[in-house]
Amino acid sequence: MTSAQKFIAIDGPAGSGKSSVSKEIARRHGYGYLDTGAAYRALAWHVLDRGADTSDADAVRAAASDFPFAQALDPDDRRVRVGGADVTDAIREPRVSAAVSGVARVPEVRVQVNEMFRRIVADSEYPAVVVEGRDITTVVAPDAPVRILLTAAPEVRAARRAGELAGENAAAVAEALHKRDASDSSVVDFLNAAPGVDVVDSTELDFAQTVAAVLTVIDQRRDAD
Ligand code: DC
Repeated sequence: MTSAQKFIAIDGPAGSGKSSVSKEIARRHGYGYLDTGAAYRALAWHVLDRGADTSDADAVRAAASDFPFAQALDPDDRRVRVGGADVTDAIREPRVSAAVSGVARVPEVRVQVNEMFRRIVADSEYPAVVVEGRDITTVVAPDAPVRILLTAAPEVRAARRAGELAGENAAAVAEALHKRDASDSSVVDFLNAAPGVDVVDSTELDFAQTVAAVLTVIDQRRDAD
């Protein structure tokens, strides 16, 4: 089996529900789960930990070439490590969120990180791995048997994010989300589906309905394979 065949590729913007949906799919099927956004966040943490500037492409390239990243592929174990450091919580800190887009926009770094994702999936003991991100369906695993773009209307995504971040002002969350979408989608287009990619729009769906819609696509694609 090639590495691509083990991918269940799920892309989508922030607030589309792709993390919680991807984990639930992995649980139900006994698959692994890989959060590629966490890897970019861990790389941003690694650059900062080296005392380097995340807007310095050379420094980012140097950090990426020595990046001992490890993520548990168990959907119920969210631990992320860089070398001996457990960075699970640190990669969600605002200083990392603010730095990650800059790190993710260095092309050679993306090539390196993508190769790392393919290796992680190929080496995993799981029969398949649900891999979520922004360019999994298009760049990392364009030959994957199941490729899904999970979307939702921007105002719904912002409302979900505001709900997750108790106490945050909804308008501020919407504005931050919009800014990050604009910055991230200038690097890879995750707002429009590439040919052959199935779209699941969760705007009008609750969590259970979204999971069911994604499972239906997986079954259809698997049957067609
Ligand atoms: O999904 P997230 O918010 O944790 O992603 C963190 C950042 O990494 C975000 O700015 C987009 C970027 N990213 C990317 O460029 N490519 C991916 N495959 C996954 C995430």
